[in-house]
Amino acid sequence: MKRALFCRGTLLAQQVALESSVPAAISPALLPRLHRAMSSVSIPPPACLLKPLEAPFRYLFGPGPSNVPPRILAAGGRPIIGHMHPEMFEIMNDIKKGIQYAFQTENNMTIAMSGSGHTAMECAIFNTVEPGESVLVAINGIWGERVAEIAKRMGANVHTMVKAPGGYFTNQEIEQALAKHKPVLFFLTHGESSAGIAHPVDGIGDLCRQHNCLFLVDSVASLGGAPLYMDKQNIDILYTGSQKALNAPPGTAPISFNERACKKMSSRKTKPVSYLLDMTHLSNYWGCDGKPARIYHHTGPVSGFFALRESLAILAEKGLENSWRHHKEVAEYLYKGLEDLGLKLFVPDKSLRLPSVTTIAIPSGYDWREILAYLIKYHQMELTGGLGPSMGLVLRVGLMGYNCSKTNVDLVLLALADALKHCHKSKA
Ligand SMILES: Cc1ncc(COP(=O)(O)O)c(C=O)c1O
Repeated sequence: MKRALFCRGTLLAQQVALESSVPAAISPALLPRLHRAMSSVSIPPPACLLKPLEAPFRYLFGPGPSNVPPRILAAGGRPIIGHMHPEMFEIMNDIKKGIQYAFQTENNMTIAMSGSGHTAMECAIFNTVEPGESVLVAINGIWGERVAEIAKRMGANVHTMVKAPGGYFTNQEIEQALAKHKPVLFFLTHGESSAGIAHPVDGIGDLCRQHNCLFLVDSVASLGGAPLYMDKQNIDILYTGSQKALNAPPGTAPISFNERACKKMSSRKTKPVSYLLDMTHLSNYWGCDGKPARIYHHTGPVSGFFALRESLAILAEKGLENSWRHHKEVAEYLYKGLEDLGLKLFVPDKSLRLPSVTTIAIPSGYDWREILAYLIKYHQMELTGGLGPSMGLVLRVGLMGYNCSKTNVDLVLLALADALKHCHKSKA
């Protein structure tokens, strides 16, 4: 054992000596030739990787990812530990509690996915729907389209209700569609980030119960930015992403299933199409299945979980209600500033606007791509255009969590005023 450690140490020392002995004067351009002369491999090390990493500072004021505050960056930068170490399980338990708070749920089956918001989206559908079952999807922007596509791919019988971006569904419309299609699952996006809508949720969970259907809600763009109460609003499955108002780096995605959803999952006749996203394994990995031991399933993103824990800690310290209030106040300050610039908000009804992501109708005569390019070039600021059905209709400003401040609104307004002055306006 001692000998093995010694040998590994010697090897490492030799490797370091070797790396540091490459003369600094050799130009990266010469390395491929040198490599060919000395090496048995035919593909040389890529020249781009022999240069230092470059990632510029950007104000990330689009719909995500948001800037990550130093405290969360530092948490993510801590030395990693094993994904199955007891300390890691403690951290995962803390994350579970933080998600329960952020979602306002007591659900035991509450975890964070190793992956982005789409991973949680797929996890929800793959685990609660079986091929041939009927699914109803509300589409008023891109996210319903995505869910319909995912459900179709796994063999569900997909029905859609469609509104133009900016539109929303009344409970009566939803009830009629539930009665008509008899789905096992109804999907709704709470914060439709492509359109800038915060969809009303009250009463829909009750309708789903009456129609024996699960209620699945996407809160990737709204969690922490607009009120949502998983248990009180009878939401059966809720998911979000790490990189919006939570301000953690992209790559982890909280999700929670209530008892109704768990019952549907445990009564499946077929296995979910994905092994990685199978909740039977994930619930064990997260200690939700009551079994005494957690068994290896996959290697979770340890640094991502450190960062997610810190972001949930910040939300817990700030308080959900304060966070919702703050996003609303800052959003209203932004609306006023945009209107003072002569810009038109895309969602006319203020009560339907998503406080975390604001959509602006593209000012007439301007090329939206030129505006966005100008902002990046001269202000190091990312705003974005529309997505899916809202492409070409809107510009999007996302001020979420750490980024949500009146100072940042002022920065956005100054940058936009400058862009409108300098970008080309057609005569038409
Ligand atoms: C409402 C909504 N749902 C889902 C997603 C997808 O999340 P991700 O890009 O993390 O996969 C996004 C991303 O912007 C979103 O805004």
